[in-house]
Amino acid sequence: MADILPPDMLERSRTSPGLLSNAEKDRLIERGFLGLYRWYASRSQETRNWNPDRSFDWRAMKQDLPPEVITVLQGFFAVEQYAPDFTSNLVHLVRRSHGRSHFQLRWGSEEEKHADAWENAVLFSGQRSPQWIAEYKERLKSQTWELPFPDAIHNLVYTVFQERATQLNYLNMMQIAQGKSTRPHLKGIADPVLARVAQTIAVDEAAHYNFFLEGVRMYLYYYPERTLEAIKNVIGQFSMPAAQLVPDWNAFFETVYRAGIYGPREFQRDVMQVAFRNLGIESRKALEEGIRKTREVPDFEGGNFKTTAIWDTFDYGQVEGDVRRLHVKIQDYEKNIGFDLYDPTEFVENPEVPRTRREAATSNESAADD
Ligand SMILES: [Fe+2]
Ligand SMILES: [Fe+2]
Repeated sequence: MADILPPDMLERSRTSPGLLSNAEKDRLIERGFLGLYRWYASRSQETRNWNPDRSFDWRAMKQDLPPEVITVLQGFFAVEQYAPDFTSNLVHLVRRSHGRSHFQLRWGSEEEKHADAWENAVLFSGQRSPQWIAEYKERLKSQTWELPFPDAIHNLVYTVFQERATQLNYLNMMQIAQGKSTRPHLKGIADPVLARVAQTIAVDEAAHYNFFLEGVRMYLYYYPERTLEAIKNVIGQFSMPAAQLVPDWNAFFETVYRAGIYGPREFQRDVMQVAFRNLGIESRKALEEGIRKTREVPDFEGGNFKTTAIWDTFDYGQVEGDVRRLHVKIQDYEKNIGFDLYDPTEFVENPEVPRTRREAATSNESAADD
């Protein structure tokens, strides 16, 4: 499913009547991604069309920032400058999905801006020479970033946590640059240029987080078991991208931790719990427990039958509501352009989702209204 396989003709006969085949689920997810991507690209151009050179008054950057801040900026730059590796690997992984592969190109162009902006920040801090930066870049580029997981669903889930973690890093850097840090060594810094850079990039990261989050919600809605399993696996071994590639990573991580920007506590509270809330998952414990219970249910190989217990693992009502809302957003966009005249994106309920009598009644009503 995750690799957007061609429709399998045998699939249909294996699916019990009334349920969606995997091919149909894949088609629905792909349509959702395509619609979301079109909406995203337009939104990105309208609201976040900044330039890493021209959008900031670089010459006004403070020249006496504490060395810890420079170490952090350098680390941000080091991670972001792998944008071509991130992009080429991810594009290749999802190349058969129009919505996802085209999105990854757009995403890559935004990540590339982040790399250039952080490099400018390092340069204009006045504390690293252009020669030093050039050598550092060469060292970084001698390594290649590879995908953290072999399949598309795990990488999609990973990206949700990674984007949120990155956003958090930048928001906390913004706070420092606004003089809001409570750490003695970082107190009272006021660098409006740096604060704006951090804020601008954090807004992009929030948009990335949202795109991938909507993607994971669609997978969670149509393929709850595999998706929850992927979430469990990803949080079990989460680390920031390029941690193995950046030569001075430990110094960077230590500095980031001491600055109160990011560490295990922030990951728990401001990354994992936030993403869980957005995915209708109560806690890590509830997730692991739910998966364990699901495994106790007999498995009818090849069918869609074994998902009964999985529905207790997360708030499927919330996720269905979110997937519906996503489709309304896509439909509004399509109406705006005129796509609806030809081939509108439709939301299709997953019939496996358990329904209370009341819910079933309302969903029949709305079906009748159509
Ligand atoms: Fe970024
Ligand atoms: Fe990002």
